[in-house]
Amino acid sequence: MSKTKIDVILGIQWGDEGKGKIVDVLAPRYDIIARFQGGPNAGHTLKFGDVTHVLHTIPSGIFHADKVNVIGNGVLIDACIFCRETDALRRMGVEPRERMKISDKAHLILPTHRMLDAALEQRKGAKKIGSTVKGIGPAYTDKTARCGLRVGDIFSAFFAQKYEALKNEHLLQLEQYGFDVEEARIEDMPWREYEARWLAGVEELRGFEVISTEFYLNRAMEQGKKILAEGAQGSMLDIDFGSYPFVTSSSTTASGVCVGLGVPPSAIGKVYGIFKAYCTRVGSGPFPTELHDGTGELLRQKGHEFGATTGRARRTGWLDLPALRYTIMVNGITDLIMMKADVMDEFPVVKAAVAYTLDGKMLEAYPDTDTSEKVEVVYKELPGWRSPLSPARHQDQLPQAFKDYISFIGKQTGLEISIISVGPDRDETIMNAQ
Ligand code: GDP
Ligand code: IMO
Ligand code: MG
Repeated sequence: MSKTKIDVILGIQWGDEGKGKIVDVLAPRYDIIARFQGGPNAGHTLKFGDVTHVLHTIPSGIFHADKVNVIGNGVLIDACIFCRETDALRRMGVEPRERMKISDKAHLILPTHRMLDAALEQRKGAKKIGSTVKGIGPAYTDKTARCGLRVGDIFSAFFAQKYEALKNEHLLQLEQYGFDVEEARIEDMPWREYEARWLAGVEELRGFEVISTEFYLNRAMEQGKKILAEGAQGSMLDIDFGSYPFVTSSSTTASGVCVGLGVPPSAIGKVYGIFKAYCTRVGSGPFPTELHDGTGELLRQKGHEFGATTGRARRTGWLDLPALRYTIMVNGITDLIMMKADVMDEFPVVKAAVAYTLDGKMLEAYPDTDTSEKVEVVYKELPGWRSPLSPARHQDQLPQAFKDYISFIGKQTGLEISIISVGPDRDETIMNAQ
């Protein structure tokens, strides 16, 4: 059997594009589904029949009995949240130990990382990032500072000492920040109670197959197995290419796959870029096409734009094509997947940003954070299709105005849209749309 390549699914806006749904839809074509970055800041929603389920750390292939799910070395694991996820799966009759392998090099989020995240956000005041407060920033900071704890450490005879040492270091930092540790709560419980659950979660983690997943994945490719890498967050939240500093702390772009799974760049095959037919963003940071009017509210209500992880209302706005062209470029997107156009079914007109101007001059490139707060947006207005997209299962069933809209996006991005999602359910998907 010939050697295979890894296909990748990436959100190419500000997250919540619908990655969970599409990974679940495409999973039957693959043998292995692997998460490569992020952690429980992610909330990936899957819907099939009566079941709606949100995954945070666990890959979105977990509901397919014959697939192997991998949590790669680039992922962060909070043992308490992980345990809650495995409990929920067991209640649904899914035994995650039979379907999942975890990298010994994945880093752990400690309860004190979560407190540090909260303390740092508090100190930033009005300039806060709007983090999910899951401890992502502080845990990746410890990883690069070379003092983090990894999943492999939980099997060490010295794990308890290592944990206490890092926790005490964090408590010192928290004290310096004037953070009231004694009264601190995590998820509405005293932090010590959270810690007890976290330690129980470590026990749960010990029951999983913890391996050097880089060997497993490279061997799997040698054996002709098909792998799908599942991204979390979106390219506009990438630590390098996102709207810094209002970003997450990992490489959410295609290159993150190589460092987050231990696979070479030459192993990357297709790079699917998922985007919504409009834009959303949770947390702070520039959002040039944001709507503060009734249309924005309509998008939020009809699209149920409330965070799958934090429940926060998502900011909403028109599709941003300059941003999309930028993320297509940095990721080398080969295939586009468009989500949630059905939310705009009744709109008389649909708008999309086609360019930005600054002081009357057209901008060539996507602007940096400071500039993008000052730009004027040039919009293209297109007629709405004013008919329900959700029943369509084939491109021939799509209204002409919608077909015109997708061919406009195709021209603007230089790529055809290969999959169109017309509703949250697995079935509400049009494959090979063009
Ligand atoms: P992810 O983080 O990229 O996996 O996306 P989320 O799960 O955070 O948010 C996507 C939301 O949109 C979820 O509530 C999905 O059930 C829903 N969804 C996905 N695709 C579609 C679609 O095509 N139409 C509609 N109306 N909802 C969708
Ligand atoms: P999925 O995988 C949307 C945002 C937060 C905040 C910033 C930094 O579901 O698409 P962090 O907790 O990472 O330090 O927060 O990033 N953010 C997301 N927004 N979807 C996500 O994940 C996100 N994960 C983080 O709101 O603005
Ligand atoms: Mg999400």
